[in-house]
Amino acid sequence: MVLDFYVKNLEKVLNLETEYTFENLNWNGKSIPIYIGEFWTSKQRQAHSLHEISYRACFKPQLPRFFIERFSQEGDKIYDPFAGRGTTILEAAFFNRKIIANDINPLSRILIQPRINPPYIQEIQLRLEKIDYSHKLESEINLGMFYHPKTIQEILNLRKYLFDKQNSQEIDCIDLWIQMVATNRLTGHSKGFFSVYTLPPNQATSPERQIKINAIRNHKPEYKNTKELIYKKSKQLLKSLTEIQRQQLYQAFQTFFMLNKDASNTKEIQDESIQLTVTSPPFLDVVDYGKDNWLRCWFNHLPLDEIQKNITKTNSLLIWEKKMFQVFLELYRITKKQGYVAFEVGEVKKGKLKLEESILKIGLKSGFECKGIFINKQNFTKTANIWGIKNNQHGTNSNRIVLFQKV
Ligand SMILES: C[S@@+](CC[C@H](N)C(=O)[O-])C[C@H]1O[C@@H](n2cnc3c(N)ncnc32)[C@H](O)[C@@H]1O
Repeated sequence: MVLDFYVKNLEKVLNLETEYTFENLNWNGKSIPIYIGEFWTSKQRQAHSLHEISYRACFKPQLPRFFIERFSQEGDKIYDPFAGRGTTILEAAFFNRKIIANDINPLSRILIQPRINPPYIQEIQLRLEKIDYSHKLESEINLGMFYHPKTIQEILNLRKYLFDKQNSQEIDCIDLWIQMVATNRLTGHSKGFFSVYTLPPNQATSPERQIKINAIRNHKPEYKNTKELIYKKSKQLLKSLTEIQRQQLYQAFQTFFMLNKDASNTKEIQDESIQLTVTSPPFLDVVDYGKDNWLRCWFNHLPLDEIQKNITKTNSLLIWEKKMFQVFLELYRITKKQGYVAFEVGEVKKGKLKLEESILKIGLKSGFECKGIFINKQNFTKTANIWGIKNNQHGTNSNRIVLFQKV
């Protein structure tokens, strides 16, 4: 069987695609292989245009693809407990896998679901034409530092339209698509956004800070045609979607389900049902997902305070490890025998904190075997001590993935 071949010949598989260096890590008497190379950043098929919405700390589609292609087969279930914008989920759907997602932030569903069930551009255009922008609406918050008054009216009308459609349960995949794109276009740092120049779209700055940005740059919000911008972004997202891929997504959508829960408590997912999990958790206090998303939450009537309370965010390595251990126990329960977990950790505290060591310890404690650690590096140079590699050298970029198997 292909999968057995891969497992037994992991190194040969890697050799097929890229040059790499190999080290053994002695971990409490166990030998853990560490592979270092440029596994998913170069010489690969381009990422699909449908991925191109911004989300803090999202990973490149080539990363989940690397593991999906090697450690699962068509029809297998692929899961991401910290799904974010859904990079793993979408990529798995393109490979004819079944998909299950979870993220404690309800915004994640708004960003993922419409892209697994995308409408045609003509449908989007027609729907946009129909949305009534003629109501004179009052905003409960001051948005004048971000938008021209006419743009504010358009955003308020669109927000009301989507809210009414949701409440009357008439919302369909075209409305959901428009909601996803509008959420993504609210603020940003180029002409394609509804707002005046500000931070990138996944990091909504505070109103006070925006007033300062406007003053420094001597900017005043200009009118933006929101329907036109939604149409343009939709066209971009859909530009490389072929009919065959639409069918693949449609198939995956039939069995897709998404939870909005803490990743350690997902009892809706059956025991031993998941072949492969590819995920990256919140990294200590690096990103404040709640604060970054306040405007997106407002637009979608989502409870920001509650979301901020629920999201795992801590400065303490001990608390973070405790949380990740609970998540790993849950992953162990739902992973099939011989199934895999590929767990990405990024660079924290300028590379001084080696979260991969924490994850290795936690994964082993929860029952998994570690099959190796993949360090994906651009412009890497071989170093005698792998753990001593400096991650923040100019021109380098690394992801560290710990690969586990339930045996
Ligand atoms: C690093 S991001 C994942 C990004 C994702 N890999 C992507 O490509 O978009 C981590 C995600 O974990 C979510 N999250 C934080 N705490 C959580 C928890 N306790 N349970 C489930 N999800 C959580 C955040 O909302 C965020 O979307």
